[in-house]
Order: sequence, then C-alpha cells, then structure tokens
Amino acid sequence: MSTSSNLAVVVDPDAPGRLVIRSVPEPTPDRGEAIVRVRAISLNRGEVRRAGMAAAGWRPGWDLAGVVERAAADGSGPSVGARVVGFLPEGAWAQRVAVPKSALAELPDKVTFSQAATFPVAGLTALHALSKGGLALGRRVLVTGATGGVGDFAVQLARLAGAHVTANVRRADQIAAVRQLGAHEVVVGEEIARSPKFDLIIESVGGRTLGSALAALERGGVCVTLGVSASAEVTFDAREFFVSGRATLYGFYIFTELGAEPASVGLRRLAELVAAGQLAPHISLERPWKEIAQVAQDLMARRFQGKAVLTLD
Ligand SMILES: NC(=O)c1ccc[n+]([C@@H]2O[C@H](COP(=O)([O-])OP(=O)(O)OC[C@H]3O[C@@H](n4cnc5c(N)ncnc54)[C@H](OP(=O)(O)O)[C@@H]3O)[C@@H](O)[C@H]2O)c1
Repeated sequence: MSTSSNLAVVVDPDAPGRLVIRSVPEPTPDRGEAIVRVRAISLNRGEVRRAGMAAAGWRPGWDLAGVVERAAADGSGPSVGARVVGFLPEGAWAQRVAVPKSALAELPDKVTFSQAATFPVAGLTALHALSKGGLALGRRVLVTGATGGVGDFAVQLARLAGAHVTANVRRADQIAAVRQLGAHEVVVGEEIARSPKFDLIIESVGGRTLGSALAALERGGVCVTLGVSASAEVTFDAREFFVSGRATLYGFYIFTELGAEPASVGLRRLAELVAAGQLAPHISLERPWKEIAQVAQDLMARRFQGKAVLTLD
C-alpha cells in the first residue's frame, strides 16, 4: 500500500468535533472507477450524525465535486480533466477518491464545483422523492422542512415540474424565502390542516408534522417519508388515513433508490437544470475544508440554514 500525501477527513474521537484531516492511502480504483481530485464537498446531517458515533478511523463523506485525474481503466465514463460531480457511500471527503462511473456526472462549464457538491444527497433525494408522485403537472405537492437542504431542492423541482407547491416552514420569518423558491402557498408550524388535500407530500420532519400530514392526503395520494428532523415518534389517525382511499406512505432511503437508477442519471439532470438557470442550490456557508470540525458542529447545532460547502485547494 502506498504511503502518500492523500489527505482525508477521518473520525478521531479525541479531537474537538471528532473530525480531523489526516494522511490516508491513495485510492485503489476498480476497472470501472475514475480517480477524482476533489475540489468541493458538502455536508449532510446523516453522515455528520454517524461521524459522532463512529469508531476512530472511519471516513465520512457522500457528496463531492472535482476533476477526473485518472479515467476508469475499462475506458468508460468521464475522461481525464473532466469536471464532475460524484456520490460515494462513504469516504468522499478526501483530496483523491475512486468513484464508480455510475455515480459520476460531467458538469457543464456554468456549474461551479460548490454548486455541484450540493447535488448528490440533497438534490437526488428531492428529485427521487418527487418522482414517487408520478407526473407532477397540476398536482398539489406539499414539501415539509422546506428551508432545509432537501426541502429547498424539492420546492424548486416541484415548481419546475408544474405542481401547485405548498411549503411547510417552522416560522413566519421563513415565508418570504420559500416563496422566492417557488412555493405558491406556505403553511407555518407543525400542524398540517386536513384541507386542502395533497397528491404528494415530501415529508422530512416527522413527529406531529407527519402525523397531521397523513390526514391531508388526496385519494390515491403518496406521502414520502424520508427524514425525522423533529421526531421519529409519530402518532396518526389511521382511520382518517385509510378513508382517504388508496393513499400510500412510502419509506424513502436514497441509497436504496439509487439501486434502481444510478446516481449519474439524476446528477446529470440536476447539473443541466442549474446550467440552464432553472435551479439554484442554496449554499449558505462556504469555507475551506480544514474548518470541517467546526462546520459540522455548526450544522448539528442548526446555526445556519441550507447547504454547507467546503472547498479543497
Ligand atoms: N431518507 C433519506 O434517504 C434521506 C436523504 C437526505 C436527508 N434525509 C433526512 O431528511 C431530513 C432533512 O434533510 P436536510 O438535509 O434537508 O436537513 P436540514 O437541512 O437540516 O433541514 C431540516 C429541515 O427541517 C426543518 N425542521 C422542522 N422542524 C424541525 C425540528 N424540530 N428540528 C429540526 N429541524 C426541523 C428545518 O427547519 P429550520 O430551517 O427552521 O431549522 C429544516 O427546514 C434530515 O433528517 C436528513 O437526515 C434523509
């Protein structure tokens, strides 16, 4: 194994914030994997939460964007020098990583590395969750947690898809921001009224929000449950749910969804929408990656809204 200067974010239980940047071995790609020189990464709550409990040496990181340094040996995928966005199940937060071509998409020139770094988990989750409702044109879509990383993309994508979009936020001072994203209507607070009904609910808050949202499903509607930002404990009125008729509660996990359609497909769609000026990732914080421990703590303490992006030299 080579001892190299490849640096990566690694869990160290004794370090403040449990994350440090350390030297790690160079990646050893399979024939279908490219080596990417990473230029930007973004953070998600799931991986930061896991880093808070993981053993020493674990390498977090799902979202990355950068430049192909070595193309896949089998000749497939982006070539050397291509600007790309990529998604890994772990270990993306490093200077150099091996990424399967199925999890890579080339970036149009207009899309920055920082923008692209927000696509993998937050963007793909919103895109795939929206697809669970079928054709969105003229449908009523509710997005809860609409100021969050996933919610921000979901509101914009639902609007782009032609839906009538309702955003759910915690506070009245957040109304203007989600209207700007494209929400036609805004519901404030954790109680979703029984009427109007929704054809699709993209639900990431859990608790009372999910419990009340289930009574607001249209006949044949789908509620996609994908997060529990408030609480995993949910009570709901089962009768109200089943009398709506043919309603579905869909358990969503992005890693499972990507078993059915490779990440490269959705990443390309998101990149093209951003290049066309139709989609705008909400980057609220951009810092050098050496600040990762502090940014991770700020994320978990909810000291900023939207996506945090870290840049590498
Ligand atoms: N199942 C999957 O595959 C999958 C994929 C991606 C994310 N997730 C999960 O989905 C959730 C949303 O992800 P995200 O990246 O959008 O997270 P995020 O950026 O932290 O956003 C959380 C959103 O929930 C809102 N919220 C409402 N009540 C809340 C409460 N009591 N505590 C905290 N937040 C509350 C936040 O409002 P404020 O802005 O007012 O704080 C914000 O809009 C997270 O739980 C994440 O782990 C799951």
